[in-house]
Amino acid sequence: MDKRYTLKIDKIIEETSDIKTFTFKYTLGANPGQFIMLTDFEGGEKPFSISDCTKEEFSITVKRIGEFTTRLFQKCVGDYVSIRGAYGSSFFISKNKVLLVGGGYAVPTFYFFAKVLLEAGANVTLINGARTKAEHVFADRFESLDIKVINTTDDGSFGENGTAVDIAQKIMSQDNFNFLYASGPEMMMKALQDVIGDTNYEFLFERYMKCAIGICGNCTMDPLGLRLCVEGPVLPKEKVEQLTEFGKYHRDASGKRHEL
Ligand SMILES: Cc1cc2nc3c(=O)[nH]c(=O)nc-3n(C[C@H](O)[C@H](O)[C@H](O)COP(=O)(O)OP(=O)(O)OC[C@H]3O[C@@H](n4cnc5c(N)ncnc54)[C@H](O)[C@@H]3O)c2cc1C
Ligand code: FES
Repeated sequence: MDKRYTLKIDKIIEETSDIKTFTFKYTLGANPGQFIMLTDFEGGEKPFSISDCTKEEFSITVKRIGEFTTRLFQKCVGDYVSIRGAYGSSFFISKNKVLLVGGGYAVPTFYFFAKVLLEAGANVTLINGARTKAEHVFADRFESLDIKVINTTDDGSFGENGTAVDIAQKIMSQDNFNFLYASGPEMMMKALQDVIGDTNYEFLFERYMKCAIGICGNCTMDPLGLRLCVEGPVLPKEKVEQLTEFGKYHRDASGKRHEL
């Protein structure tokens, strides 16, 4: 196993009633798209993408879903957790005109990425989607960056009315982008793949992870046997196009298949 680091929670931001950002003063040295494994010493260890990373600190943004994340939500500033990583592949840093399409709790990782793209000189447009205004995150932080932001909600309660895919299709019919990146629910990325034509892309995937270092095989994707914790979680177009399980099923901790 890789080295673990016990870290004190330095800051907690309540983004919505079900999403919080936790910041740690620690030089992680991660690249955009990578993730860490985190344990609270009370059982289990879970993967979380990095939503911001500077020389001095890094953040993760967590949605409360089940037992582990509910316990994490009870933590306070000054409490300790343990992490290992950063792990996995990272996004290609384009210097051109790029479109980022994000949905739900998977959008914040684009905050870290957008900052790196800007440093590289890219022209960045972001579609920040959520189902409702109450679930929409990071609008203020993205507004502080020199990028074009299109906020959207499925029910029209904030920003444009429509899914992130609807808006992506609309703006791609009006404008050309050299590269597209997506991070969000898998069915969103599947629908996106159907409307983006020949545009080159990378997608950030989530699969059940245990070891995160390529040993257990729990995160492999059919039929390539790609270990998402090592060869992913960011996969390029040529790999995504070969995945027969994309948008169809995923596996739980025991390896049993579940339809998406
Ligand atoms: C590469 C990667 C990056 C992720 N980034 C984020 C993030 O930035 N923010 C965030 O809120 N969540 C993220 N997740 C998902 C997060 O790991 C799960 O939401 C969390 O593990 C749920 O745990 P739980 O006990 O609260 O819920 P549970 O009730 O145990 O699980 C709810 C669902 O979460 C997923 N899940 C549970 N355990 C794991 C696991 N070990 N590996 C992968 N998925 C799991 C499964 O789909 C499961 O059905 C990421 C997952 C991966 C693989
Ligand atoms: S989580 Fe074990 S191989 Fe990826």
